[in-house]
Amino acid sequence: QEKEQQQKSQKRQKPMEIAGYVGFANLPNQVHRKAVLRGFEFTLMVVGASGLGKSTLINSMFLADIYNAEQYPGPTLRKKKTIEVEATKVMLKENGVNLTLTVVDTPGFGDAVDNSNCWLPILEYVDSKYEEYLTAESQVYRKTISDNRVHCCLYFIAPSGHGLRPLDIACMQSLSEKVNLVPVIAKADTMTLDELHLFKKQIRNEIAQHKIKTYDFPATLEDDAEESKDTQNLRNRVPFAVVGANTIIELDGKKVRGRRYPWGLVEIENLTHCDFIALRNMVIRTHLQNLKDVTNNVHYENYRCRKLSELGLVDSKARLSNKNPLTQMEESKREHEQKMKKMEAEMEQIFDMKVKEKIQKLKDSELEMARRHEECKKALELEIHELDNKRREFEREKKEWEDVNHVSLEDLRRQSLGTNNS
Ligand code: GTP
Repeated sequence: QEKEQQQKSQKRQKPMEIAGYVGFANLPNQVHRKAVLRGFEFTLMVVGASGLGKSTLINSMFLADIYNAEQYPGPTLRKKKTIEVEATKVMLKENGVNLTLTVVDTPGFGDAVDNSNCWLPILEYVDSKYEEYLTAESQVYRKTISDNRVHCCLYFIAPSGHGLRPLDIACMQSLSEKVNLVPVIAKADTMTLDELHLFKKQIRNEIAQHKIKTYDFPATLEDDAEESKDTQNLRNRVPFAVVGANTIIELDGKKVRGRRYPWGLVEIENLTHCDFIALRNMVIRTHLQNLKDVTNNVHYENYRCRKLSELGLVDSKARLSNKNPLTQMEESKREHEQKMKKMEAEMEQIFDMKVKEKIQKLKDSELEMARRHEECKKALELEIHELDNKRREFEREKKEWEDVNHVSLEDLRRQSLGTNNS
């Protein structure tokens, strides 16, 4: 019977090919049209010390002048040296598809003499965007929510050849808990291939050693062997060694984006020169939606659960599980009620015990008092008895004296009273 049922359910699961065309095959086109009409939103954050080429890389990535000199003065012209978080929003259009790109920069990062906790304003910015989204989601009337959450964070590592600095480790550790962190080696053209290879290895080891959870990109199509090979190649390139350039150079009649040096040309879009194109393809072409999904399903969910547990609505254990938030709230409410009942029973038990103890104490003191009363009574009776004996002894002695002296003490007393009166 079980086998029959299994076969039946297998038959049910297998899609039934229909004879003609009814039109639902057009559904993906509808979704596509709707998505194109609505446009896409993406927020990219860049974190790294001044002069590592962050703005040059962003401009190279989107082939647009996102950062221009007026808007973005650069390290030497910047007045403040404290860390600030600056968001720049641009609308980009490619083949009719609109992308609202927000680039979040962190000028001043690592510029101070004492850089302890200098990444806190960055974390606060990330949290503030989650908070904005949570507030918008919790409104009674929810219109289309604008998604300004940070979907990807490029962390720029200086091409020092000496591994990560303590500031990099601490900052990456805290950032990786809240955003999709992608480490990049800045200005990779300043290193030889061998140096770069060793440096990458060292950084990968340090990332593993310090348990930094960098963005783990999945294969876009899991069953596709070619696809998983590409993903593996991509993984092997982490941390991406990037070179940025805003200049277009002509090479054999072909225009390339690159940096010209007296000894040669670095083509940034050439995979044998650097990983720029691999990074750009990953962030924009192949994994943009996954970056958004991970932000929404992992980082934002963590933030939401943290917030709810702060309000006492969700148990911290539930955060680890994949349960529906409403079920979590129901469960925690039930657990709370059970806890209260248990506490009530315990308190009643303690109250009963205390009452019993009090009664016992009262009984004991009553017995003690009765015992003392009895003792006093006995002592008094003994005293009375002794006094009685003494009185009787005295009477006897008095009688003997009167008999010996043939005189009554009573008469003597009367006589003496009479003499005194006269
Ligand atoms: P801040 O404005 O301080 O945040 O600096 P930044 O990180 O945005 O650096 P920016 O893009 O302004 O670049 C600083 C300098 O480095 C400029 O002169 C760039 O031309 C140069 N530069 C940028 N990218 C590269 C690179 O990949 N390799 C080399 N060698 N130089 C680069």
